[in-house]
Amino acid sequence: MEAAIKMIGELSSGEIRELVRGKYSEVALNSTSKYKFRVGKQYALDLGYAAGEIESFPEMLAESFTGVSSYLARCGEFAPGEVILELGAGGGLDTALLARKVGPSGKVIGIDLSLAMVRKAVTGLGRLGLPNVRCVQALAEELPLPDSSVDWVVSNGIFNLSPEKERILEEVHRVLKPRGRVLCSEIVLQREPSLEERFHEEDWFK
Ligand SMILES: C[S@@+](CC[C@H](N)C(=O)[O-])C[C@H]1O[C@@H](n2cnc3c(N)ncnc32)[C@H](O)[C@@H]1O
Repeated sequence: MEAAIKMIGELSSGEIRELVRGKYSEVALNSTSKYKFRVGKQYALDLGYAAGEIESFPEMLAESFTGVSSYLARCGEFAPGEVILELGAGGGLDTALLARKVGPSGKVIGIDLSLAMVRKAVTGLGRLGLPNVRCVQALAEELPLPDSSVDWVVSNGIFNLSPEKERILEEVHRVLKPRGRVLCSEIVLQREPSLEERFHEEDWFK
């Protein structure tokens, strides 16, 4: 029997989350397959990541890159010793760049809902020998962190994937220290997508 295909608007938040988890786990495990979005090192270079830095990293750190800009580590005025929380850290490319910014006295905590992505980031970052990073499987909507515990929250392309953006923002507000800062690269709609564009789950970033 064929599974019923639903319109995107008919999917629950939990169903959308599982589709997102499945898709990015696939990217972590098969980064060279064909996707509806760009993946990998050449994409990162085209977006403006510094070739010298990327070339010095273990190959796997950029292999599953699917961010939407190269600005995270460049745009924040990160200081040594600061604690950064990265939402949807994926394969760990920005995580590595950010960890270098805050140095050994600082810390980067990367969270991602896909266990396969987290495993990939842990392996790649481990090969780079960075002592100040920790990657865990978690939802941005339910952060496993205490109140007022981080100086920065950053992300590179996670909000567009969550149907519960307000819950994420509430969590960001909760975990940020007073005067903490937020830096997010995101896809923003400039108009409502048409019915055809939001047709059904088979069309959706498959
Ligand atoms: C567009 S990718 C970007 C990954 C990474 N930032 C990069 O630049 O390569 C989004 C990532 O966020 C993760 N993600 C999506 N929704 C999430 C959520 N609600 N909570 C935690 N992670 C999520 C996905 O598994 C995926 O790895």
